[in-house]
Amino acid sequence: MNLMRKTIKLFDPIFGKDEEDAIKETLYSHFWASGAGTNQVLKFEKAFADYTNTKSCIAVNSGTAALHLALALFDLKGKEVIVPSLSFVATAHAVILNNAKPVFVDVDSSGCLDPNKIENAITKKTSAILPVHFAGMACNLDEIIKICKKNNLSLIEDAAHAAGTTYKGKKIGVHGTAVCFSFHPVKNLAMPTGGAISLNGKNHLHYETILKSTRWCGISDRTGVKYNVDKMGWNYYMNEFSAAIGLIQLKNLEKTNQKRKQVAKRYFDEIKIENKMQFDTNCSYHFYWICVKKRDKFMKDLANNGIETGIHYKPIHTMKFYVNKKTVLPETERFGEEIVSLPTHPNLSESDISNIIKNINKFS
Ligand SMILES: Cc1ncc(COP(=O)(O)O)c(C=O)c1O
Repeated sequence: MNLMRKTIKLFDPIFGKDEEDAIKETLYSHFWASGAGTNQVLKFEKAFADYTNTKSCIAVNSGTAALHLALALFDLKGKEVIVPSLSFVATAHAVILNNAKPVFVDVDSSGCLDPNKIENAITKKTSAILPVHFAGMACNLDEIIKICKKNNLSLIEDAAHAAGTTYKGKKIGVHGTAVCFSFHPVKNLAMPTGGAISLNGKNHLHYETILKSTRWCGISDRTGVKYNVDKMGWNYYMNEFSAAIGLIQLKNLEKTNQKRKQVAKRYFDEIKIENKMQFDTNCSYHFYWICVKKRDKFMKDLANNGIETGIHYKPIHTMKFYVNKKTVLPETERFGEEIVSLPTHPNLSESDISNIIKNINKFS
């Protein structure tokens, strides 16, 4: 009998023969970069725009690149951008890359920016709000959009966790002027590396032209082998392998997100810890979170039982690079001390889920 127990991973991309075939097809096409050969990147952009029902979609090579370029559409030099601190550090880095200052605002009990705390943080320099749809749960966009309109601020969303999330019947991607997705291998729509910016509003075609240039070194006016460079840009374009895999992941996204929701429903119904993520059928459950007091011991015990868990996140304002004693965010800091992320990926079996719940309930 094999007594070796398989570790239940926190994140685990789901793929099959279709992804394998797509890689081979791209490999043998000899066109690996974007904008050539079998046009996988173009196909992905069109398919993702159709899926989210957005006007334009520009593919890039990471969620970080998406945030950097999306913010660069607005003149942010010397300005302030309101962000949550309960996020991956790329959310704040993207603001700094644009020579602006991230202003951290506290979250509410959902882990998303608390709309009631935003207005107090608005100054003459505030130019934009950059909310994160935390763990795949949509922020209170109605309230945030109201605040943006009232104060003439741009809305750029960090939707790295939210591929397939809906808000009031519409997919995340259609609300903000620019909405940034990550297709990092751990994400609901996984690629080796990848990201995208969905564009909305009356300037979407103008922004699309800018992004097509800034994602590739500022190149403009291409005709055949000739081109010009009319602005600063970066090497941020998506490669054909990522897009080929992404097209299949996108085809399966509703089904895989449905599986994530079923996992989350079981956690919500069966975990006996009070402070846990809500259940909402609109959420894509990139992960599921619970809050526990003696976190180190808790995580160690689960690890000893073959269950990988995570911490999303140590708040950005407590990182050495960002630390500022004046920033006090009680709810974010509480999350930072207590939050534990649990797996929701579709490779989990019913018995894996039961095992996770049983081991957590030992602590209730
Ligand atoms: C909330 C959030 N924003 C941005 C990013 C950056 O995405 P990427 O890793 O694709 O650069 C991530 C990825 O981990 C994320 O979780």
